[in-house]
Amino acid sequence: MRKAIFDFSIRFLLFERAHDAVDRGYPDHRSRPRVPLILSLCIAIICSPVLICAGIYNSKHNLSVSGPGPATAVSETEVCIFCHTPHNAFPDSPLWNHELSAAQNYTNYYSESLKAYPPGGAPPIDGFSKLCLSCHDGAIALGATIGSRRGNIAMRSVPGIVQSGHLARDAAGYIGTDLSGGHPVSFVFDAHLASLRNAEPDLMHLNWPIIDPDVKLYETAGGFGVQCTSCHDPHGGKGGPDSPPFWRKTTFEDVCLVCHDIFSQIEG
Ligand code: HEC
Ligand code: HEC
Ligand code: HEC
Ligand code: HEC
Repeated sequence: MRKAIFDFSIRFLLFERAHDAVDRGYPDHRSRPRVPLILSLCIAIICSPVLICAGIYNSKHNLSVSGPGPATAVSETEVCIFCHTPHNAFPDSPLWNHELSAAQNYTNYYSESLKAYPPGGAPPIDGFSKLCLSCHDGAIALGATIGSRRGNIAMRSVPGIVQSGHLARDAAGYIGTDLSGGHPVSFVFDAHLASLRNAEPDLMHLNWPIIDPDVKLYETAGGFGVQCTSCHDPHGGKGGPDSPPFWRKTTFEDVCLVCHDIFSQIEG
């Protein structure tokens, strides 16, 4: 019962498009044993950690010529190259190889009960969220790598999904610069924020400290906080067919419950 209320209110509030996501069905999470054993062993030796490779090969983030998703390269065979390079990487870490979006004018999430920042006062998108948006805001070509070895990797055109090498407006993964309908990112989450929010009995409270093997806080605005990578694992994740894509845990709620204390809301 409590869980149902949570499901409804939270999904309705923030992720009203969740049903679309489920309806569409994500090939990402279906296991497809497409790589022969010998090859997987080679990959396992080259890749570290091993799990990253297993997940990403069967996901929409395999943008190589043999990727299973809708967006694939004309001839590039490497998978990691779209995001990482061993050489000439941006200092941004982790050995980042994708050109960053120049967009600054993101529209951030806001609500009156939010404590993290005042109206109009959202800090700029930074850290790992900026890395994700380098493809997902549609401003930069998917193949725009910076390593001297590749430069711009040619992508196949797919009507409505990849246009002129960019993620198209109608693509499932297109986010653009309006982030107001999504969970807030790029703000510091610390003991102070938790105490501010938890002082109000009517609000859904926050857990603190955040100690979890999958769901983590990442660098932002001089501290640590929520980024896209807190919920999504770009290398595939652990999600099942019913969980959101590239999910850090097996179910939708498991991710939220690391940071949100759902019972306090209902008692308040
Ligand atoms: C679509 C972009 C993308 C692709 C493709 C990608 N990565 Fe990553 N990778 C990231 C991001 C973003 C991070 C930082 C966030 C994190 O740690 O999950 C990261 C972090 C890492 C890390 C350090 C953190 C950790 O989880 O241990 C390793 C190692 C890594 N990637 C390996 C790989 C390998 C190997 C491949 C190719 C098989 C690959 N990645 C492909 C985006 C990508
Ligand atoms: C190199 C470009 C690139 C980067 C960087 C990248 N992605 Fe993606 N991502 C894609 C493409 C292409 C798709 C497939 C889009 C589609 O099917 O509409 C995709 C798909 C996704 C999807 C599934 C969308 C769906 O509806 O199935 C999610 C979730 C996602 N990415 C999250 C992330 C996150 C989080 C990051 C940063 C950690 C990230 N991506 C970084 C290119 C990228
Ligand atoms: C609090 C957890 C959370 C955070 C943080 C988060 N997402 Fe998501 N994301 C979700 C959920 C849940 C869904 C599936 C429901 C939906 O369709 O909106 C989703 C869906 C997506 C999709 C599929 C397209 C869509 O809109 O349905 C993409 C792409 C994506 N996220 C990228 C990102 C990027 C990029 C960031 C950082 C700017 C980010 N996410 C931050 C939880 C999160
Ligand atoms: C890594 C920690 C973390 C995770 C994971 C997380 N959240 Fe959050 N969430 C926060 C923080 C911190 C805030 C900001 C609270 C504030 O400023 O008052 C927030 C804000 C929100 C808000 C807006 C609250 C308001 O008052 O406007 C909603 C709704 C929400 N989260 C739902 C979710 C859902 C649903 C999930 C799972 C899909 C999720 N969160 C996952 C940490 C997290």
